[in-house]
Amino acid sequence: MSLHCRLWISGRRREERRGTHKTPAGERSMSLRWRLFILSVVVVLVLVVVRGQVSAQEEPPVPDEQCLVCHSKPDLSMVLPSNEVLPLTVDANILAHSAHGLEAETPLHCVDCHNNMDGYPHGDFPAANYRSYQVQMSMVCGNCHEDQAVARQDSIHARLLAGGRIEAATCVDCHGAHEVVWADPEKHEVDRVAQVEACGQCHSTIAAEYEESVHGQHVAAGGQDAPTCSNCHPAHKIEDPRSAEFRLKSPEVCAQCHADEALMAKYEISTDVFDTYVADFHGTTVQIFESVEPGVYTNKAVCSDCHSAHHILPPTDENSSVMEANLLATCQRCHPDAGENFAASWMGHYRPSWERFPLVTAVDWFYKMLIPSVLGFFVVYIGLDMGRTWYDRSKQRRECRRARRKQGKAEKGSSEGGES
Ligand code: HEC
Ligand code: HEC
Ligand code: HEC
Ligand code: HEC
Ligand code: HEC
Ligand code: HEC
Ligand code: HEC
Ligand code: HEC
Ligand code: HEC
Repeated sequence: MSLHCRLWISGRRREERRGTHKTPAGERSMSLRWRLFILSVVVVLVLVVVRGQVSAQEEPPVPDEQCLVCHSKPDLSMVLPSNEVLPLTVDANILAHSAHGLEAETPLHCVDCHNNMDGYPHGDFPAANYRSYQVQMSMVCGNCHEDQAVARQDSIHARLLAGGRIEAATCVDCHGAHEVVWADPEKHEVDRVAQVEACGQCHSTIAAEYEESVHGQHVAAGGQDAPTCSNCHPAHKIEDPRSAEFRLKSPEVCAQCHADEALMAKYEISTDVFDTYVADFHGTTVQIFESVEPGVYTNKAVCSDCHSAHHILPPTDENSSVMEANLLATCQRCHPDAGENFAASWMGHYRPSWERFPLVTAVDWFYKMLIPSVLGFFVVYIGLDMGRTWYDRSKQRRECRRARRKQGKAEKGSSEGGES
């Protein structure tokens, strides 16, 4: 208010200096009213901007200490309409050590998230039970993280939530509310095991399988190269893995890493797996399907049919679905009539070689020799034939010309002889 007055006074002084106040009484009061109006609009705008900057930089409208006077009390709690008891004690240390705390460029304050609160008393509790409260509160994250919130709209969890499956994951389920930690591996050191555990809260069976897998073991040992859940199911855009599109694209999910020469060399794993899969009957068909009919479900094998998706083990492990002794059973899931030699007759991820598949390699070589030699033979044959034809024709033409010349001479000779 005082700021408003000062501006108004200085405005009037300026008017007096310029002499604009010497206008007739009626007009003057009109223009004054207009100026006052414009001035107050400007002042309000300035105040809004100033206030906005202050709250974004340092002092929030309600300092955290004010909230913590009550919320740091050890056993503050409330009973919800659903009769659940909600503990209300907040550990300020947790917030301070979160990604929103002291390490952040601009630490967040209580009211940045609890933006409908400006002290006590609070309004009515906004939900019927704790889970609805949590889902509702999680909406606040999108105010500042628009990219993630927009990306998430199409994810399977968001669609399930919109359809009333209130137990599907929200931002808060995966990241926490006050205890948010760094998550972006490109910018920070992140705890990959904790990211898996976040999914495991709700997908415990799959998480347990994953933890036994070659990938899970690698991550548990602190490795950065094997996938966590979100490398295969990008966290904010998780699709339905049972859809035809996901199935057709799934070999490319594995290929991100298994076709990467430098990465696989570190673990002495062959990068032929992707190319040989594509060259194989199953893979060729899956690739054709993907480009022609991406919405149609394929029954041909993809990587995870043979290797599983979450319990992938090295082929040497006795529990691996692709270990020699278990392989036939894996094929029989789709080839129920497959006999003992079925799997052995398949080349798998190998290119033909003399050591492994002498017969196939022999046939391969046979064709490699046969085709060029047959083609070569025909090229030579056709070449010779064409040469001969050309030679014969030109010879014929030459003889014709010679004969014509001879005939011409003879005719000339006889006509000369006739004249004399
Ligand atoms: C005078 C003590 C006091 C102060 C100050 C206070 N609270 Fe509360 N708060 C309570 C009590 C008591 C409850 C239980 C519900 C009720 O009484 O409304 C509560 C409930 C809550 C809840 C959960 C239920 C709801 O209504 O959403 C949140 C969140 C909350 N407070 C946040 C805050 C924030 C943020 C501040 C600071 C701006 C704050 N409180 C300041 C005492 C206080
Ligand atoms: C008032 C704005 C605001 C709100 C609301 C907010 N955040 Fe943030 N959040 C930030 C800012 C700013 C940073 C980045 C801190 C930095 O990089 O210095 C951040 C960082 C993060 C990070 C770490 C990002 C990284 O680079 O690893 C995660 C994860 C995150 N927030 C999740 C959430 C969740 C979940 C919620 C809701 C419970 C939420 N945020 C609410 C502003 C906000
Ligand atoms: C990054 C956003 C964010 C900040 C900052 C934040 N809160 Fe919360 N708070 C939430 C969310 C989201 C929930 C509800 C979700 C849940 O309980 O898991 C919540 C819940 C609460 C509750 C209800 C009890 C509970 O744990 O569910 C209280 C009380 C509360 N906050 C107080 C505070 C106080 C006090 C501060 C400041 C010291 C603060 N909050 C800072 C996001 C935040
Ligand atoms: C199903 C679990 C899950 C949900 C739901 C989720 N996140 Fe994430 N979020 C992750 C994981 C895991 C990462 C780590 C990066 C990655 O692997 O994609 C991440 C990364 C982030 C980051 C770091 C920058 C980035 O994009 O990598 C921010 C910020 C973030 N999430 C905010 C949010 C917000 C806001 C919401 C709600 C709109 C949300 N997240 C919902 C799991 C989730
Ligand atoms: C708060 C619990 C919760 C968390 C945390 C969670 N999910 Fe989910 N998720 C669900 C629920 C509920 C469904 C629906 C399951 C159903 O329909 O049977 C679901 C569905 C899915 C689906 C679709 C397949 C299906 O069974 O419908 C995938 C994929 C998925 N989640 C992956 C993840 C990943 C990856 C993470 C971690 C980044 C994660 N989820 C974290 C609750 C959660
Ligand atoms: C190496 C890639 C990969 C990793 C890592 C991975 N998944 Fe999957 N996931 C897949 C594929 C491929 C499918 C579809 C095929 C299938 O279900 O066997 C799938 C299917 C799913 C499904 C739905 C089908 C079902 O079996 O219920 C859920 C839910 C799921 N994954 C969650 C997770 C969670 C949680 C994690 C981490 C613990 C995880 N995934 C790690 C590739 C992966
Ligand atoms: C983010 C990269 C990444 C993705 C995606 C990935 N893998 Fe892996 N995979 C690895 C790494 C790294 C190893 C080696 C781990 C080790 O030995 O510590 C590995 C190991 C394996 C092994 C064991 C090989 C051996 O001889 O020990 C198999 C089999 C395997 N992956 C199959 C798959 C399949 C199938 C998929 C897709 C469903 C997949 N992987 C997706 C990185 C990846
Ligand atoms: C029809 C079944 C089948 C399909 C489909 C399949 N694999 Fe395999 N895979 C196997 C068998 C069997 C082995 C073991 C080969 C051996 O060592 O004798 C294997 C071995 C591997 C290995 C270990 C190679 C090494 O050098 O240690 C990796 C990695 C692998 N597969 C990845 C993949 C990927 C990625 C895909 C999809 C692009 C895929 N597989 C598709 C059956 C399959
Ligand atoms: C997910 C199911 C699935 C799995 C697992 C699977 N296949 Fe197949 N495979 C198919 C389908 C479908 C066809 C096409 C059959 C047809 O059109 O007659 C096919 C075709 C083939 C063909 C081409 C010749 C033929 O019979 O038509 C060979 C060879 C083959 N599979 C070998 C294998 C071997 C070896 C394994 C085990 C290592 C295996 N498959 C595992 C689904 C699968």
